[in-house]
Amino acid sequence: MTDLDSFITGLPKAELHLHIEGSLEPELMFALAERNGVAIPFASVEDVRAAYAFSNLQDFLDIYYAGASVLQTEADFHDLALAYFDRAAADGVLHAEIMFDPQTHTDRGIAFDTVMRGLLSGMAAAQTKHGMTSALIMSFLRHLTEDAAFETLAVAEPWLDRIAAVGLDSSEVGHPPAKFARVFAAAREKGLKLVAHAGEEGPPEYVYEALDLLQVDRIDHGNRAMEDRALVERLAGTGMTLTVCPLSNLKLCVVSDLVDHPLDRMLAQGLKATINSDDPAYFGGYVADNYRAVAQARGLSRKDLATLARNSFSGSFLPPSAVAAHLAAIDAYMA
Ligand code: ADE
Ligand code: ZN
Repeated sequence: MTDLDSFITGLPKAELHLHIEGSLEPELMFALAERNGVAIPFASVEDVRAAYAFSNLQDFLDIYYAGASVLQTEADFHDLALAYFDRAAADGVLHAEIMFDPQTHTDRGIAFDTVMRGLLSGMAAAQTKHGMTSALIMSFLRHLTEDAAFETLAVAEPWLDRIAAVGLDSSEVGHPPAKFARVFAAAREKGLKLVAHAGEEGPPEYVYEALDLLQVDRIDHGNRAMEDRALVERLAGTGMTLTVCPLSNLKLCVVSDLVDHPLDRMLAQGLKATINSDDPAYFGGYVADNYRAVAQARGLSRKDLATLARNSFSGSFLPPSAVAAHLAAIDAYMA
């Protein structure tokens, strides 16, 4: 391990943008396909990895939804979640707010309760095994209708005390935040926090809509906000957290090279950016890989990396006392 590697791994950090279905490694995909007798369109693990060459978000989503078909039982969701938490713990993640896409499962006949029980038992195991805290973000698929999102919110009703927030993901362009204004208002009424993917491929207008129409607590990605100076000033002025995902941006061609990644410009313009892995099994790296890749490509200092880690806790949905304890741990680490 280089000095930079061990500095990054040791730095206390939270992960705020992680799709648990996107942490399904090819090895586990094959194991679950076999365990459940599900056919997958790949001959080998190498074959799966070779298919992970994407030219845009939709290319990736097609493979990601196909891969999720191996997830059938409560044990599958437990194993998926714990495999992620093991990797995250090894990267120095102390708290993770993980998204899941219930409609990806309920639409193929898997019960919402099966998904919840498996994920919650994986989260409990992470607490016991690693002392890691975690929270769930239930994401609506934006290529489906708002009525379908309302149905999902209704099915989730008995579980709402175990769900921290709702989110909005899947195919962005053509499915603006405005489409989900009513269901986000209903989720807010129920006391849930709100996040939405905006400005990954979609224009700055989608970021405005996420702020004004959805009233989100965080923006997932937000890269294209950089095209609009007034929007950047507003996001900076309100301390809005952006959950940025550098290796995802590279793999989905949001940036053509990491040397062009806007992360340090975001920090320089006062944006509260964080570093996250998005779908680590598909994009070639977990959270520490993302810190390392962008640090090397953009020449980030240790002070910048500590700022990003601080932002990950202050932008989390942890209670203020827990945030303060994690920030103190970063101060101690830096001293
Ligand atoms: N679902 C999983 N990963 C996603 C991403 N990066 N953007 C939109 N939807 C997603
Ligand atoms: Zn995402």
